[in-house]
Amino acid sequence: MSRIAYVDGAYVPHARARVSIDDRGFLFGDAIYEVWGVNGGALRDAEGHFARLDRSLAELRIAAPMSRAALEIVVKEMVRRNRVDFGHIYLEISRGAAPRDHAFPDPPVAPTIVLTARRLDPRTFHARAARGVSVISAPDIRWGRCDIKTVNLLPNALAKQAAKEVGAAEAWLVDAHGFVTEGGSSNAWIVDAQGRLRTRPLDNAILHGVTRARTIDLARSLQIPVDEAAFTLEEVYGAREAFLTSAVNGPMPIVAIDGRAIGDGAPGPVCMRLRDAYFGAEAG
Ligand code: PDD
Repeated sequence: MSRIAYVDGAYVPHARARVSIDDRGFLFGDAIYEVWGVNGGALRDAEGHFARLDRSLAELRIAAPMSRAALEIVVKEMVRRNRVDFGHIYLEISRGAAPRDHAFPDPPVAPTIVLTARRLDPRTFHARAARGVSVISAPDIRWGRCDIKTVNLLPNALAKQAAKEVGAAEAWLVDAHGFVTEGGSSNAWIVDAQGRLRTRPLDNAILHGVTRARTIDLARSLQIPVDEAAFTLEEVYGAREAFLTSAVNGPMPIVAIDGRAIGDGAPGPVCMRLRDAYFGAEAG
């Protein structure tokens, strides 16, 4: 079945979807994005992603291309037209297309909006989590507003490529003080040597992950205390468990970092409890 994309008001075959070479997303990375996971044809954490989208647009003073209600219809229509039972929806909004000039177009131009859909095989997806993934560490060389979900992902892409080249799935980025900020496309968690579940507190150095927030809620409902406290790479090396969270992966166990096993080198029980709670019974 052919994939359908949405571009500026029209549903078009994915392979023929186009935006202008003057688009500021292309020229300057002047664009924001969102990703919703889809389970059983329904958006996971729909509200959290819509709320963050509004915040990203407001922080960059990009006009919303349509109302929230209209956008919800388009996102759901993308799920339906692409028959996404399990997978994800990608949305990008740029400041629009205008002759190249770093400052904002004056008068303003209409923002560009693009959505794409991706179907995933849930069995392959959950089998990967049953094995767990490896990560590497890398210096965090990004800008000072990583809380805004912009498409400025070059440092993330470089770190994730370095991970891929050694067979790892993610890179955990480390700030100038030796603390882990987050992954290239996910938030970072450990169960430390004392058994405390920890993730970095919200600041401008990390994306305020919707799955992170959901995982905190799930942990509390399972009576697992969560400590929003930053941790160092040394603490990761000595941790009982490590895992990442993102809309695409949910809670995903990490079994090794920088070639060193985490705990006993198998997916950890705290992560797997949270994963089961996140995906429900189908996580298997
Ligand atoms: N990435 N940190 C970064 C840098 C991210 O890019 C992401 C998400 C997250 C997790 O956020 P959330 O739980 O809201 O998905 C944290 C998406 C999935 C991506 O770039 O594909």
